[in-house]
Order: sequence, then C-alpha cells, then structure tokens
Amino acid sequence: MAHTITLIPGDGIGPEVADATKLVLEASGVKIEWDVQNAGAEVAEKRGTTLPQEVLDSIRKNRVALKGPIGTPIGKGFKSVNVTLRQTLDLYANVRPVRSLPGVEPKFEGTDIVIVRENTEDLYAGLELMIMPGVAQSIKLITAVACTRICEYAFDYAERLGRKRVTVIHKANIMKLSDGLLLECFRKVAQLHPKIDPQEMIVDACAMTLVRNANRVDVLVTENLYGDILSDLGAGLVGGLGIVPGANIGKEAAVFEAVHGSAPDIAGKGLANPTALIQSAIMMLHHIGEGAAGTKIERTLIEHFKTGGIRTPDLGGTATTTTFAEAIANRIAKA
Ligand code: NAI
Repeated sequence: MAHTITLIPGDGIGPEVADATKLVLEASGVKIEWDVQNAGAEVAEKRGTTLPQEVLDSIRKNRVALKGPIGTPIGKGFKSVNVTLRQTLDLYANVRPVRSLPGVEPKFEGTDIVIVRENTEDLYAGLELMIMPGVAQSIKLITAVACTRICEYAFDYAERLGRKRVTVIHKANIMKLSDGLLLECFRKVAQLHPKIDPQEMIVDACAMTLVRNANRVDVLVTENLYGDILSDLGAGLVGGLGIVPGANIGKEAAVFEAVHGSAPDIAGKGLANPTALIQSAIMMLHHIGEGAAGTKIERTLIEHFKTGGIRTPDLGGTATTTTFAEAIANRIAKA
C-alpha cells in the first residue's frame, strides 16, 4: 500500500535536495504518493500568504511531511514559515541526530549525539516590541507545560533508542526563572526514568564540550534557541550542514526536514548536498513503519562514504546533487 505524504520542496536548494531524496526513496522500493504543497516568499506573491491553509490541511490529513528549507528575510519582512508551521501544528519536539559518517570528518569520527530541541516557545514565540526608538525587547517565553513535555520526549526517546544519558542544557545561573523552570521540570521528569542518567550542563560549557569531546554527552534536551545554535555547531563537527537531519514531532503530525536552510549562495547550481534531507527521510521511514527501507538506505549511505564514493563539493568532491543521489540509488538497487 502506498503512503500519502505531504512534500514541501521549499525554496533555494530545497527543490534540488527534495528531487534527489525522492530518487533515493524510490530506489528503496517504498511506495509513496507525494501530495506536493508550496509555501514561502514566492507563494506569498501569488496568494498573499506564505503558508496557505491547504498546506496545513494536507499535513494534518497525511500526518507526515517531508520538507525542504524555506528562507526567511533577515531583520524585516514576514515571520518564518518554519517557525509558524511548528507552532501551528504544535510540532513540539525537534529531534536532530548528529552522527558522523565514515571518512567525512576524521577528527570527529565516532560522534553520535542527539539534540532534542523544544520547538514552540522561548525567544521564537514572536513576542518582540520596540519600547521606544533605540530600545527593543524580545520576550523569552518558557512554560512548565512545554518544558515537561520536551523532557518527557527526551527521556522516552533515550529509553526507546537504548541511550544511557540525557543532559539538560540551560543558562539557569543567569536566567534563574525561565531556565530555572526548565531545570525544575527536567529534575521531576528524570525521577520517573531511573534507568537514564540525568545530567545538567550550562550552554556555554556545552558548546566547548561538543568541540572537545562530544561523546561526553548522549541525548541533549534544551530550549529552542540553544538547540538551534548547538545543532549547527554539531553539524560543523561531523562535516557541515549538508549532512545533519531533523524531525519536528507533534502528537498529530510530524514534519521531517534537514537542519540546514535554503542556502541561497549555492541554490540552482547543483552544488547542494542532499545527504541531510535523505537522512531526514530515513527518520521519516522509521516513523511510518518502513524501518527496513530506512535501514537499507542508511547502510548504503554509510557504505558509500566508507568506500570513498563520490561526494558533493561541501565534502571536497565534485559530484552534483543529482549525480550523488543517483550513485546512492544505484547502490541501493544493487544491494
Ligand atoms: P544555510 O543553512 O542555508 O547555509 C549556511 C551555509 O551552509 C551556506 O554556506 C550554505 O551554502 C551551506 N549549506 C547549507 N546547506 C547545505 C547543503 N545541503 N549542501 C551544501 N552546503 C550547504 O543558512 P543561512 O545562509 O543562514 O540561511 C539561509 C536561509 O535559510 C535564511 O533565509 C534562513 O532563514 C533559512 N533557514 C531555513 C531553515 C528551514 O527551512 N528549516 C533553517 C535554517 C535557515
């Protein structure tokens, strides 16, 4: 039976990496009917909104989406479509596994951590105002409900995946009330999961630890902004943004997308590495009960890098987005 899944190609490199990922998924033998939906600046020119209602309806109906990146104007303009999507669909858990691929970044070989980022509040709640000319205020909104459920997600995830430790990342030495609330919720939830080792770490120390010895941590749980920054840092360790996948998980729906953005500097040139979106699609396959196909693609990717298969320019190669995807698809077909 075919799965119906919403596909949002996105903009910038989005359509290129989405096409490459579709190619690899097809080779895996999984039957997917794509319900293609568009969002972002180009859509707004025609429709007057960056996120038309039918996009939300499609994800609600199909309960699963694969999404390319969508650009957001800096310092002005419309609100991020990505943030709006996560908040509207209450996709509260942003799961970002940071895992090295063989031979890609030898210095950080063996890195295997998972960042669980709260996805709906914090400084991303959109509560910003100019108090007076020259004075701006952004409100950091933190609630016990959101902190508790993201900690529960992180501990459940750790148990399900056989992980040993969950570390909460905070700055409660300075933000004693907001980050203090996260810590309080974390400690309560930790008591319900005696098999998992609960640890606490201040965000700046965490940044240093990730660079010095990432495997001192295992699963990280944190607020929206810290999670956003730390996951790009994590990507930097294992070979860059072209590699690291992500999933936005809610009770009613899940949207799978890479950590990277729309990369306007390389868009339309065939230079984008589709590995991050392919790895997001692997997470999606596990989510929809097609774990065997997901594992098949994952093994092929690992084998490809291990045996020195072609790479895109971000990893020092000359392959295009398409030739890389074709190489992976061919390997899957032969496996
Ligand atoms: P970016 O992630 O798009 O790019 C940062 C750097 O990484 C660039 O040099 C880019 O060429 C490179 N890069 C990113 N993905 C790559 C890939 N797959 N293969 C090879 N190189 C890759 O971040 P930037 O430039 O800060 O943001 C660009 C736009 O993307 C902004 O409008 C931002 O708001 C948006 N964005 C969207 C996200 C989403 O849709 N979830 C997430 C992050 C940013």
